[in-house]
Amino acid sequence: MFDAHDLAVLVRSGTPLIVIDTHEEPALEDALRRVVGELFRPLFRWSITDGLHRLDLDDEDVPPCNDSSLVLDFLHRHPQRAIWLLCDFSPYLRYAANQRRLREVALGRTREPQTVILASGRNEIPEELADLVTRYEVRLPDEAALTRILREEVFAHSRGHGGRRVEVDAQAQRALVRSLLGLSVTDARRILRQQVLIDGRIDAGDVAAVQQAKFRLLDRKGVLHYEPDCGDFDRVAGLTRLKDWIAQRRVVFVADRPPKGLEPPRGVLLLGVQGCGKSLAAKAIAAGFGVPLLRLDLGAVYDKYHGESERNIREALKTAEAMAPCVLWCDEIEKGLATSDSDDGVSRRVLGTLLTWMSERRRPVFLVATANDVSRLPPEFLRKGRFDEIFFVDLPAADARRQAFRIHLERREQALDDFDLEALAAASEGFSGAEIEQAVVSALYAAHAEGRGLDQAHLLAALHGTRPLSVLMAERVEGLRAWARERCVPAD
Ligand SMILES: Nc1ncnc2c1ncn2[C@@H]1O[C@H](COP(=O)(O)OP(=O)(O)OP(=O)(O)O)[C@@H](O)[C@H]1O
Ligand SMILES: [Mg+2]
Repeated sequence: MFDAHDLAVLVRSGTPLIVIDTHEEPALEDALRRVVGELFRPLFRWSITDGLHRLDLDDEDVPPCNDSSLVLDFLHRHPQRAIWLLCDFSPYLRYAANQRRLREVALGRTREPQTVILASGRNEIPEELADLVTRYEVRLPDEAALTRILREEVFAHSRGHGGRRVEVDAQAQRALVRSLLGLSVTDARRILRQQVLIDGRIDAGDVAAVQQAKFRLLDRKGVLHYEPDCGDFDRVAGLTRLKDWIAQRRVVFVADRPPKGLEPPRGVLLLGVQGCGKSLAAKAIAAGFGVPLLRLDLGAVYDKYHGESERNIREALKTAEAMAPCVLWCDEIEKGLATSDSDDGVSRRVLGTLLTWMSERRRPVFLVATANDVSRLPPEFLRKGRFDEIFFVDLPAADARRQAFRIHLERREQALDDFDLEALAAASEGFSGAEIEQAVVSALYAAHAEGRGLDQAHLLAALHGTRPLSVLMAERVEGLRAWARERCVPAD
């Protein structure tokens, strides 16, 4: 949705180059017509196929300008202030002469000051112009607008089917409208037509279908992944403090309006020793909150074209907000946020975008970041207030190790009575959850090779045959612990 008022403010303030990423040209044209109605300036539209036309008047004499450079020449010499909507112009920005022409527009070196709007589904702006453009973020329809759209579609469906009534379940309609939040008008209409109204009714079953269709639509770049299997906290040994923390905040997080005086929880950073269940816990948090889990792949954010990486992260965050309430999971975040300037500052800007979003996001998106190398984490990230809490996930204590054996033996259909969990916990001091799981697996192999069932001796042998990371990398683990002692809350 385009807010004609916002656009008018931009135009009136003399912004020369406006970039709008949108597939909704007709809606943009409508909004611009309203802008010129207010500002009394001519409005032109150009595309490679239609050439140049005046949109606000029918009879204006405009020379044929199919060539991209001709339209720029024309607007340069135009004797009146005007608004120029250039559709899908990116490919022509590769020509040096066109770049220069637009630069001159931005610098006010035209006969009269002009406003050029570059509109396209994907605007690729060359570096030379990047600093001179203003991006207009398209506002998405709110609940009231979506309800209106839904009514229109219901009406259209009914009319298209000889006046047959569409059965609408009021509760399902409300849930449906909510799950459409975050979509553009065009996409919302498309989903309503293709997924919802196809059977001539609106009922509870439509909500899940809409959510899935919505994620497919939004996730265009593979930066975000929908994680269908989140596990749950019962499969995570230890981490009791973290579990309690989440349980306490669940109701507030999913509430429509948080209770008075309470801010909805925003996110946690899980720091810790390898293989101790950070990734596992991140997934279980989504299950604990009962919301979808989206994994943000920071590696996939980076792109070789100027401005694309920042755009990718911006879009991914926007998608996450559109799917809210949800958990956004950034695994091994230190790897995606190198702080060097060796890449022309791209990773700095990606980090900046993420940090700004963390403090300004408006929708309930709970960020779970995990990391095990604090030295590579940008310090801005650890500053107070970014996360609600920074949890340290340490090697499991005896009780958690006992639970880990229980979980992994049960998962492999072993009868717990056959094992002395106490002794196993004692023999596995210094082991991570992953190493305990590994010991169970290799003991099972050993037992299988002997043609016998798994017993305590197999497990103890597997433990004795393993040198855990905490021994092999004693200094690093100790360093991490010392660092965390002062700065983090223990997760267990
Ligand atoms: N606390 C735990 N409870 C149960 N299983 C665990 C626990 N910690 C680790 N595991 C087992 O080890 C596997 C690996 O753990 P996970 O990937 O969560 O560790 P991590 O802390 O994310 O490690 P890394 O730092 O290497 O990413 C899990 O899939 C699980 O099977
Ligand atoms: Mg992990």
